Order: sequence, then C-alpha cells, then structure tokens
Amino acid sequence: MPSELVCFEQNCRTRFPITEVIYNCAWCGGLLEVDLASAGIDAAALKRTWRERRMCNTIADQSGVWRYREMLPFAGHVHLAVSLREGNTPLLDAPLAARYGGLDRLVFKHQGFNPTGSFKDNGMTCGVTQAIRLGMKRVACVSTGNTSASMAAYASAAGLEPIVFIPHGNISYGKLAQALEYGARTLQVEANFDQILALVRNLAERIGIYLLNSINPFRIEGQKTIGIEMLEQRDWNPPDWIVLPGGNLGNTSAFGKALRELREFGFIEKLPRLAVIQAEGAAPFYDFVRTRSGFRPVTNPETLATAIRIGDPVSWPKALREVSESNGVVEKVSEQEIADAKAQIGRCGIGCEPASAATLAGIRKLTEQGVIQRKADVVAVLTGNLLKDPDYIYRYHTGQLKAPGGEPLESKFGNSPIVVPNDADAIARLLSDTQNSEPGT
Ligand code: F0G
Repeated sequence: MPSELVCFEQNCRTRFPITEVIYNCAWCGGLLEVDLASAGIDAAALKRTWRERRMCNTIADQSGVWRYREMLPFAGHVHLAVSLREGNTPLLDAPLAARYGGLDRLVFKHQGFNPTGSFKDNGMTCGVTQAIRLGMKRVACVSTGNTSASMAAYASAAGLEPIVFIPHGNISYGKLAQALEYGARTLQVEANFDQILALVRNLAERIGIYLLNSINPFRIEGQKTIGIEMLEQRDWNPPDWIVLPGGNLGNTSAFGKALRELREFGFIEKLPRLAVIQAEGAAPFYDFVRTRSGFRPVTNPETLATAIRIGDPVSWPKALREVSESNGVVEKVSEQEIADAKAQIGRCGIGCEPASAATLAGIRKLTEQGVIQRKADVVAVLTGNLLKDPDYIYRYHTGQLKAPGGEPLESKFGNSPIVVPNDADAIARLLSDTQNSEPGT
C-alpha cells in the first residue's frame, strides 16, 4: 500500500491520498499524519545502506534528510527533492553543561548547524518538495522566525514564491533578516503567532497558497530525520532521555513518530523518554499535562525566547500521545533559568538561541527533582544557532536583559566587553590583574 494521509483522531482515522492539498481531516477537522508505506523495510539492510550513502556524492545521499528516504512518503519522487544539504548535524559532548544540569554526561544534538541555522530545515526540505510535487507556485507560513527563514530559503531555492507572516515586533532581527535576504514577501502582522495562524489558515484556501506550518504533515515527516540521524550516530543505542524545547509542539510530534516507527520497523528496541520544556510565560502544554483538565490556550504568551512564544500550539494532541507513549515528562522554566542555561551552553564553546537553552534549564530542574538521574544517558536538542538572536546575548552579558514584564534579569554568568585606552601598558596591567579570574565572575 502506498503512503497515505490519515486523520490523527483515533475515532475517525479517515484516509486521504498523499497528493491531496489538505491540512486537516475533511470529516472531523482533526490533525493529519502520514501512514508510511512500510512494506519491505528491512532494518538491518537499511542500517548498512544509510551508512554507505554517506560516502556517495549525490544530492539525495549527501542530505541528512533524504539519505533516510525510506522513512519518508516520497517513494518515486525523490528526484524532486529540494535540498540545501540539510541535516548532518553533530552530537556534541558538553561536560560543563552536564555539570550545570546535574548529569555525569550530556550530549547536544545541534540543529543550529543546518543551512539556515535551525532544525526547521529538516522538515522544510520535505514541505517544499511536497509543494513541488503538488505543482504549487506560492507557499506561506506563520512563524516566530525560524520557520520563515527556512521556508524562504527552500522556496527560493526551488523557484517558488515564499510569503511569510510574522508577529510585528516579536521576532529576532537575525531571523527577520534571513526572510528578507532569501527573498520572501514578508508581512508583519499586528497580532501574535496564534492569531496570525488562524488568519492564514483561512487565507490559504481563499487565495491558493500552500501552507508550510507544522500542521503540514510533510514538515513533520522531514523532522523525523533529526531523531533517525541521532540514533544512527549513536549506533542505534537509544538514550534514556531526549530533551526538547516545546512551542507549537511539531518537533515533539516528529521525534515521537520517528522513534515509534524505528521501534516498529526493528531499528531499536527501547523508546527513549521525551522531556519537553516550555517557557514559563508560554506553557499551556505543561499546564495541561500537569492538570489534565482540558487544554487551555494561553491568550497572551510572553517569553524572551521568542521562538517558543506560542500560547495555542496546534500539535498538542500529537505531542500528548508521544509524551504518553514514551513515558515522558513536561516541565517549564523561567526567563532567568533560560538565560543562565544559555550562557552555560555558550561557555562550552557551543552556543544556541534562547529557546534551545530551555533544554538545559529543564534538565537542571528535572535532575534536582530526581526525575532524570545523574547517570542517565541524555541527549538535548539545540534547535537554533547562537547567531539567531545576538541582541539577547549582548543584553545578557552587559546586564541589560529584562523579562517581558520589565523586571531586570540577573547576569549571573555575564561577560561584558571592556573598553580600554589605546595604551599597551594599561592593557598589559589590566590583563595581568585579570589573568587568574574567570570571565564574568
Ligand atoms: N526552538 C526553536 C529555535 C524554534 O524556532 C521553535 C519553533 C521551537 C524550538 C519549538 O518547536 O514549535 O516544534 O515545538 N519555532 C516555530 C517557528 C514556531 O515559527 O519558527 P515546536
């Protein structure tokens, strides 16, 4: 049977052809997911094939997404793939961050090494390839910044017209600059992410644009390869925990689906537990999982980690299933905790954007609570590159960072630049005074 779209709602499960332009179930309005054509998947053989492909120079084999094409719903269409050599992101050991997080060892899967600097590229290569397969000419997304940067790049690379909708005044300049430079028509809407998403879902059908938000199941399929690549890099040894920041919850859905499929097809035996970390001011999923009393969106989400400033995450039903199936947890962290964790990740020589640092802040909290054990094998996913939001960094290190409510945050690990005269003696004196002290202490 070929891959199909299927309604995620367990009491509906209506099926649709893979080439239908549809974002929600036509019967019940539920989310859609891909039911992958899995006949003939031979885990042992594919483990070898995927490794061999790393030695090959074809585009599809060089891409850290399309290399795993047997796990994607594009059989017979891989030649259409729009690739910027995404994926291939490293696992980085971070002893300092491990100590800070209360662990013996911590490894980061750094998605900031992607072509547009975030994990969105894994999904976007598939989303834009699906747009090509469908013959669409215009693509659009609503974004807190990274999706728009990624979509702009892939759409332009494919010769499609990208249209980006972003919340006015609430995305970092690094991300806005990317959308402009990659040639997207960029509309700054005077509303928050959730309001704009509702607006654009309505608009997409009216004016015939293909929507590339993470409700698009092809985005989720591509994002699965982050988990697949991670497992391959670990020689198929699942960690105890995978820790992710949670915003719209597409990534949680993608990781969960990837891991379940890998188990179902015989690549791994054990499911890692998922830990999803939200920012305190935008934590509807945390509240829901803790109380289980109906999903209540946060109407005015606030966090300096603007990537996850989302109060009504569309993918929460899928994320709930993945957290439950993996025996996972959801935690929330404060602005101060994110800022300090971020500085620690920087000190490892690694760095990331604020939303990504929620992972380490969450790990620290979860080890303190005894939920994650000190000896546990933990991989945290850093979703975006440090350069995405330099303004935040400068403010933190110079003691000027303020929480959304205006209260100043402490620069516990601040490292302010020092202005010096053009005078060798004065500089030598200064450096000999400070040679034994750590920066920022
Ligand atoms: N980290 C970063 C850097 C992000 O950009 C996002 C989401 C997330 C984490 C959360 O991932 O939504 O799958 O739970 N950014 C979206 C955007 C919403 O528009 O770029 P999620």
